[in-house]
Amino acid sequence: MSSAKNLIFHVRPGGCLTGTLRVPGDKSISHRSIMLGSLAEGTTQITGFLEGEDSLATLQAFRALGVEIAGPVDGKVTIQGVGMHGLKAPSGPLDLGNSGTSMRLLAGLLAGQGLELTLVGDSSLSSRPMRRVTDPLRAMGARVETTEQGTAPLVIHPVDHLNGIDYALPVASAQIKSCLLLAGLYAKGTTRVTEPAPTRDHTERMLSGFGYPVQRVGATASLNGGGKLTACDIDIPADISSAAFFLVGASIAPGSDILLEHVGINPTREGVINILRLMGADIEVLNQRDVGGEPVADLRVRSADLHGIRIPVDQVPLAIDEFPALFVAAACARGETVLTGAEELRVKESDRIQVMADGLASLGVDATPTPDGIVIQGGSIQGGRVGSHGDHRIAMAFAMAALRAEGKILIDDCSNVNTSFPGFVRLAGSVGLAIDSEEEN
Ligand code: S3P
Repeated sequence: MSSAKNLIFHVRPGGCLTGTLRVPGDKSISHRSIMLGSLAEGTTQITGFLEGEDSLATLQAFRALGVEIAGPVDGKVTIQGVGMHGLKAPSGPLDLGNSGTSMRLLAGLLAGQGLELTLVGDSSLSSRPMRRVTDPLRAMGARVETTEQGTAPLVIHPVDHLNGIDYALPVASAQIKSCLLLAGLYAKGTTRVTEPAPTRDHTERMLSGFGYPVQRVGATASLNGGGKLTACDIDIPADISSAAFFLVGASIAPGSDILLEHVGINPTREGVINILRLMGADIEVLNQRDVGGEPVADLRVRSADLHGIRIPVDQVPLAIDEFPALFVAAACARGETVLTGAEELRVKESDRIQVMADGLASLGVDATPTPDGIVIQGGSIQGGRVGSHGDHRIAMAFAMAALRAEGKILIDDCSNVNTSFPGFVRLAGSVGLAIDSEEEN
């Protein structure tokens, strides 16, 4: 997947962001479109598919499971669905690269297939916690093994059948919720998942779009096993998690004025807009519409004077992937920003609290990590060299920091930007970020 070479971003300081742009397709929705399209009856046509390494890992996994998938070509993918019971045993382990969503959702989707399967990932993915999915899957009757540390590889053994479960999620996680709902498609009876706080609901929305009934009562989503999916067309909106870098960049760089087109603004994903607005950002939500069951809008962002805030805890799951970018906004804001209730950030593609705190500190920003968050004093940002620890969102967040830095920022280990945002350097450059990349052996 990612090359062993060190891809370095060089970002010259200053400037502003102007113009109109469309960031790549939503990663979460792209994964789910391949999964449900593969299990559906009929042909599913997808447009706007994210051609990033993570969603391509899901696509390759389903090809290895015997599904005929054409594309992607310019974001277009065509899937000949094999039906709920048409997957075939692959010839080797399924390699899911860096993608936690692929591994956790597939663990559920594959647990009841009656196949012997192994799921592997890169070193980052192989150090992330998997018992959060394997424990409840076992309670449903699955035979899924992790390493002794509770990490990948995951080995799935065939079982006779799964049973529905009534499960209260210990953490607000769409990946665990989705894993169990997908396993529930193959379970006897009803699978009910209750979440401690709302998390992204793309799985539930897309299941409904494929004609599979999903009930939602309060914090509980449920479905009955044994149904079927009917192929449909899916238009994937631009990813708000990728748009987030530009929401922050345009907010912090004086003179900025950008229009981000066709962005998914699902209410379970809009925390970044809410938090930036609380900090004083000028974000207009224009031309709201519904695209295939997902709300979409164009976002106009102009620079603004940001101020520090205490980030409301209820916004944390709604902005869970956007904190690296939001920490950069906090570093440019007047006063103190305090984040709590975000311990999940420590088990993402990197420990995003520690890695961001270290990077901000090396750029002269006063940032103090806490067990479940961070305290950032806004002020000036110096130039310097930071490590992204192979985490795409850390790399892109620090690239935006250069807009307000006093010197050049160099960011190491950026090849994983391709997991979620292929073409970032070119697109960011086209709206005014002074960014180049260089490969070092
Ligand atoms: C995702 C859910 C989130 C998010 C990840 C994508 C998904 O993870 O961080 O990038 O597509 O379901 P958690 O559910 O572990 O919070």
